Amino acid sequence: MNQSERVICNGVEIPLIGLGPGGMGYTPNAKPSTQVPRWNVPLRAWNKFMRSIRYHFQRSEYVSAVANGIRAGFRLIDYSTAYGNGGLIADAIEKSAVPREDIFLTGRISNRAQFSGPSAVEDQIKRHIEEYRTDHVDVLMFHWPVTGCFEKTWRVICKAYEKGLARSIGVANCHRHHIEALMKCGLKPMINQFEVHPLFTQKDLIKYNQDLDIQVESYTPIARNDDRLMRLPKLRQIAKSHGKTTVQVVLRWHIQHDLIPIVRSRNNLRQKENLNIFDFELSAEEMRTIDGFNINARLRYDPDNCDFSIL
Ligand SMILES: NC(=O)c1ccc[n+]([C@@H]2O[C@H](COP(=O)([O-])OP(=O)(O)OC[C@H]3O[C@@H](n4cnc5c(N)ncnc54)[C@H](OP(=O)(O)O)[C@@H]3O)[C@@H](O)[C@H]2O)c1
Repeated sequence: MNQSERVICNGVEIPLIGLGPGGMGYTPNAKPSTQVPRWNVPLRAWNKFMRSIRYHFQRSEYVSAVANGIRAGFRLIDYSTAYGNGGLIADAIEKSAVPREDIFLTGRISNRAQFSGPSAVEDQIKRHIEEYRTDHVDVLMFHWPVTGCFEKTWRVICKAYEKGLARSIGVANCHRHHIEALMKCGLKPMINQFEVHPLFTQKDLIKYNQDLDIQVESYTPIARNDDRLMRLPKLRQIAKSHGKTTVQVVLRWHIQHDLIPIVRSRNNLRQKENLNIFDFELSAEEMRTIDGFNINARLRYDPDNCDFSIL
């Protein structure tokens, strides 16, 4: 099976697996954990200098890790305005020497912009694309269906699609009732990204999306390597019988359910391991066994019961 095989409902090709590098986790302007008194100007200047050095090294480590992921073969990059500056991803693409046109680049609208209203969303789309140093993203989606805002955001996203700023449009964290609401106010989403893994199989929500020809991207696909999953003897047995790791078997389970797993790793060996899942097949019985691991264990937030202002 080759990686560019899947085609979404508007005819755009999408890779079968994505790399979600997440945020860098450090910004030079972050408040220091210990406060230095205002009068101690030299120490404050020294701390500021050290923070900028630390940022410089962490930035370069992050960019190299994403570039290595692209070189290893990832062609879908999942990123969001909520994770930081898209310039990091643009740098990584450049560093990888893989042409931008070969990358399926995700743009995601933050909850903060949604709270500020449609013109803030419009501005953010423009800025996001500029930071990526491109003229369009391959999918534009919102990060969460923020109550009271997400329909308005969706209208702006649909307009951006019509203007050619995005080759496809999608949503994240949408339940059935969110999709129903969206379809009344604009185009049908082409992609819905939400949490799925063998401990939280979301069978009904996946079926609902697939019946509507909405491509599901599964996030937290390996349940963050949770022991409750990876130590299961039945999973280890399946992995052993295919000469694969338990993580590879879980990622393969997503592929065979027609899901696009978005997996995070900045470790090059693990990135390669995560891509090496296209040379074996799970039997129908093995798929059923893994389906049976479901314990409805959501590891991330429930869009019907969360505080959008902190996400
Ligand atoms: N739309 C949303 O609201 C939303 C929410 C959550 C996540 N996401 C997206 O989904 C991506 C992935 O989700 P996630 O980070 O929650 O979970 P995940 O991909 O299930 O798990 C990531 C963890 O697994 C480890 N890992 C990766 N490959 C491994 C391997 N082969 N063997 C052992 N450990 C391995 C990583 O460690 P190392 O880095 O050390 O390898 C990391 O600690 C995110 O980065 C983001 O792009 C989207």
